[in-house]
Amino acid sequence: MSKTKFFKEEYGPWALIAGASEGIGAAFSEALAERGLNLILIARREKVLSELAEGLVSRYSIQVEEHILDLGNSSSVRDLISSLDKEIGLLVYNAAYSPIGYFKDIPIADLENIVSVNIQTPLLLIKTLTDSMIERKKGGIILMSSLSGIQGSPKIATYAASKSFNTILAEGLWHELKDLNVDVLACVAGAVRTPGYINSANEKDAPGTLDPNEVVKETLEALGSSPTLTPGSFNRFAKFIMSRLLPRKRAIQIMHNNTKDLK
Ligand SMILES: NC(=O)c1ccc[n+]([C@@H]2O[C@H](COP(=O)([O-])OP(=O)(O)OC[C@H]3O[C@@H](n4cnc5c(N)ncnc54)[C@H](OP(=O)(O)O)[C@@H]3O)[C@@H](O)[C@H]2O)c1
Repeated sequence: MSKTKFFKEEYGPWALIAGASEGIGAAFSEALAERGLNLILIARREKVLSELAEGLVSRYSIQVEEHILDLGNSSSVRDLISSLDKEIGLLVYNAAYSPIGYFKDIPIADLENIVSVNIQTPLLLIKTLTDSMIERKKGGIILMSSLSGIQGSPKIATYAASKSFNTILAEGLWHELKDLNVDVLACVAGAVRTPGYINSANEKDAPGTLDPNEVVKETLEALGSSPTLTPGSFNRFAKFIMSRLLPRKRAIQIMHNNTKDLK
């Protein structure tokens, strides 16, 4: 069976991409459309999402369903979940909320939104979709995580902790679900050139910065073979140094050197 056919058999016929309109989410949409999966795309900005959807439908023989909603709004998420009537073989949870600032300056509403967008909604979607994947004995879950979550990350402390939650959740579920033929993977990314990253970072790229397409390519290749993946050899080396070689205090300090100028 060809690789594309295998992918569609294993993870189709529909994929749900939460946070699809641009950056890594748009790159996942393109790569999955290329593999022949029908797509359920979610984002808040209607115009950006519609343009992406129209482009995909014109380039590939697939169906695309658009949902304009805020993944931080629990009643919209519950409405979405109860409206889902397609056979979804792949969930990509890409959206994240990452306010920048020291903890003392972050309003409680922003902290709550980190928990909603980065933790509560992915948990709900994973629970809903894995139930039917387990029944069908196939499927996949991809959670976008971050190297900021492998140690404390000042100035993005709560976001980083939420990413750590996603990585650890993916690892546990990877083990629980692998014998049921449901693949789980956390993509523990370093810096990626997305509109969100470009807005908050300095003019110069951080070392190891990748384009969204490179991240997506490596992630889809790793799905089914490991619980976590860090795209890019520089980032894998940095992860090894930060998590295995350096004392925690030093790793946190190095992280702060990188995050202190974020805006
Ligand atoms: N960029 C990096 O350097 C980097 C590094 C490590 C990890 N990551 C992870 O990679 C993922 C994507 O990062 P990114 O930089 O591409 O993020 P982003 O620019 O903030 O947005 C990603 C996508 O999610 C959608 N989205 C965001 N919040 C949403 C919400 N509340 N409801 C519905 N849709 C929402 C956005 O569309 P709308 O605005 O239209 O809603 C957009 O399509 C995140 O999980 C992030 O933690 C990124």
